[in-house]
Amino acid sequence: MRTLAVLSDIHANVPALEGVLAALANRDDILGTYHLGDLVGYAPWPNEVPALLKARGIQGIAGNYDSTVATGYDHCGCNYEDPRDIELAHLSYSWTLEHVSEETRAYLGALPFRIDLRPWGGHVAGPKVTLIHGNPVLNTVYWTEDRPDSFCLQMAQKLGSRPGDTVVFGHTHKPWHRTVDGIQFVNAGSVGRPKDGDWRACCLLLHLEDGEEGKKGTIRPAILRVEYDLARAQTAIRESGLPEDFAKVLESGGGK
Ligand SMILES: [Fe+2]
Repeated sequence: MRTLAVLSDIHANVPALEGVLAALANRDDILGTYHLGDLVGYAPWPNEVPALLKARGIQGIAGNYDSTVATGYDHCGCNYEDPRDIELAHLSYSWTLEHVSEETRAYLGALPFRIDLRPWGGHVAGPKVTLIHGNPVLNTVYWTEDRPDSFCLQMAQKLGSRPGDTVVFGHTHKPWHRTVDGIQFVNAGSVGRPKDGDWRACCLLLHLEDGEEGKKGTIRPAILRVEYDLARAQTAIRESGLPEDFAKVLESGGGK
């Protein structure tokens, strides 16, 4: 079996990233690993996460946090309604802007918006796996599980996806997947800041299942949850001057 691993929304959480990378290193089926952006924000390792991905040769795309930090935009593009959440988002963003190095900014600014993969070979038209962060046009739109099938198909059309193809995205920090008209839609969850009530780092595996002779292969998504050194992440957040809320939320996994 060959498998692709996809890491989304790491959000400057090095212990979570290291935990996932160690779990992947223990497997013998990983063909390649990609990230879906939002590498920084909310935790105190905004330079170390990009450096680690770079060192491991893990390619990926830009999230809303990456492109806004790279350009020094006036906010992170995170959409909160509760006033306290808005305040926390601003605190995280300004802390990150202050601590990010020029090298990291340059790396974040050079990330592409989307990546298309053809796991059965570039000369075969499909099935295709498309990696995006939020949605095909804007990284600030939350593609949540309660979006209707019609929304998914609209997104697929914008991407040029066809039956048999898979669209992979993140941004909401909650993993889910479903198939509509033969196209798979998969949310990869979040490595460093899950919001689905499970504190463990979330990683998406895409198992590549070969078709019978002459038939196209299929892609089977599976979620891998990895326990990591949560205490190390919380201690570092507390020592960094970032709000206590960011340490607490890691422990509850968003609490919902
Ligand atoms: Fe995110």
